[in-house]
Amino acid sequence: MHATPYRLRLADGGDIQEIAVMSRCLIEVGLRGWTWHPTRVARALRARETCVLVADIGGCAAGFAITEFGDTRAHLSLFAVKPAHQRRGIGLAMIEWLLESALTAGIDHFTVEMRANNFAARSFYEALGFRQQQYIAGYYQNIEPAIRMRRDLNRLATLS
Ligand SMILES: CC(C)(COP(=O)(O)OP(=O)(O)OC[C@H]1O[C@@H](n2cnc3c(N)ncnc32)[C@H](O)[C@@H]1OP(=O)(O)O)[C@@H](O)C(=O)NCCC(=O)NCCS
Repeated sequence: MHATPYRLRLADGGDIQEIAVMSRCLIEVGLRGWTWHPTRVARALRARETCVLVADIGGCAAGFAITEFGDTRAHLSLFAVKPAHQRRGIGLAMIEWLLESALTAGIDHFTVEMRANNFAARSFYEALGFRQQQYIAGYYQNIEPAIRMRRDLNRLATLS
């Protein structure tokens, strides 16, 4: 099968709705309400410490990552690739881009939380050198537990 090429770029206003819908359908699915609604995504786009990265296919967002950059820690708040485009290395390319950016910014470590039963995401992050740091009971709406994973950024370590 011929895979459509993608490119990574920063999100703009035209991506807000698509990102919010991906959040609802791919990440918040099964949870009450819609926490990453368009207004919140728009706020993330405007926040100086937040990077909203998009994997663009034909002018549309096929995947996205929202990352908050602190002084020593970068935190991946939200991340997904549309099912039709998964297992093509797009997620990997986005996280590598973010890890490189964090390294350049002098960030010490990268963290992310996911539902404890999201074994696909856990395998994905493990493949990228993340390690489980914490099990957090009731993290999602006091019902679902989360796993926090961490990737230390060592200038001497290779990213791949
Ligand atoms: C997690 C996610 C972003 C991965 O995106 P992706 O573009 O499909 O990932 P890649 O193609 O770059 O995968 C890289 C490697 O991660 C691992 N991986 C990815 N998806 C996997 C899966 N479903 N099961 C097991 N391992 C997986 C594999 O080692 C894979 O390499 P391979 O395809 O050569 O075997 C995607 O599955 C997704 O959007 N899931 C739904 C939303 C979600 O769970 N977001 C993360 C919450 S924090």
